[in-house]
Amino acid sequence: MKTPKRLQALVDEGMMDEVLSQLMSGKEATVYVVRCGDQIRCAKMYKEAGQRSFKQAAAYQEGRTVKNSRQARAMQKGSKYGRKMQEEVWQNAEVDALYKLADAGVRVPKPHICFEGVLLMDLVSTEDGQVAPRLNDVNLSHAQALVYHEELIQQVVLMLCAGIVHGDLSEFNILLNEQGPVIIDLPQAVNAAGNMGAAAMLYRDVDNLKNYFSQFAPELALTQYGKEIWQLYVAGLLRPDTVLTGIVAEAKRPVDVHAVIEEIELARLEAEAELQRRLIQTN
Ligand SMILES: Nc1ncnc2c1ncn2[C@@H]1O[C@H](COP(=O)(O)OP(=O)(O)OP(=O)(O)O)[C@@H](O)[C@H]1O
Ligand SMILES: [Mg+2]
Repeated sequence: MKTPKRLQALVDEGMMDEVLSQLMSGKEATVYVVRCGDQIRCAKMYKEAGQRSFKQAAAYQEGRTVKNSRQARAMQKGSKYGRKMQEEVWQNAEVDALYKLADAGVRVPKPHICFEGVLLMDLVSTEDGQVAPRLNDVNLSHAQALVYHEELIQQVVLMLCAGIVHGDLSEFNILLNEQGPVIIDLPQAVNAAGNMGAAAMLYRDVDNLKNYFSQFAPELALTQYGKEIWQLYVAGLLRPDTVLTGIVAEAKRPVDVHAVIEEIELARLEAEAELQRRLIQTN
């Protein structure tokens, strides 16, 4: 096909050879199948900020870092330079997350380069060379649903151990090939420790998985993996090989506030008595 203008820069720089087809045009980007030497890859061309939709909401930007304070000020003011910076932070967030996650062993497409608003990465494909379907487009058996759900929960744990929450995980951002699910679409990924909304985003990601897979395996509807994973993470106990149960023990009785106040008062009286005793001894 004819090379779109913005992809031509990558051809001119020798980063790819030709565009084979357009895969799809989503909310944030247009995705192409391209050839780089003897490799078939995927080029994700981000839309200009004005053409994009909801995802760039402030919630996702929190905790993101820019290189210097001039850039931060420009971003706040919304100047032309600032918008360009914001754009780059957005695109870089996906590239950064992909590199980090690929390193941590998460099943994501391997990134190659991000240049002029185009991310070049591996094409997720099936063994017969077809582009891998989205999870949403596949019919699952009960057993498959249980296996994929478990594998994806494992991936969520791996991501969190690498400090990242996807933030838009759903059956539309997961591709499926013979090796299992592959996670894509990460420009809104957040830093788990630096974003106040990270817990809510993790719960939503895990709930999306639960709601989707429980169509095929209804018993998943009762699981509480989101809560379990976050509790372990906050307690510093989450590891890539942590065994999860999907069950979170609730406190059996409501907290007896009066008993707690009584305890505190007793401790205070004891401390006071001890102080008196010492004063008497020293006099
Ligand atoms: N590495 C890849 N390999 C194969 N297909 C891909 C790859 N990356 C993206 N796609 C395809 O392109 C579609 C859009 O990609 P992505 O979700 O990253 O962009 P988006 O603009 O956020 O799209 P959407 O609005 O559909 O979420 C995906 O649903 C998938 O079908
Ligand atoms: Mg998407």
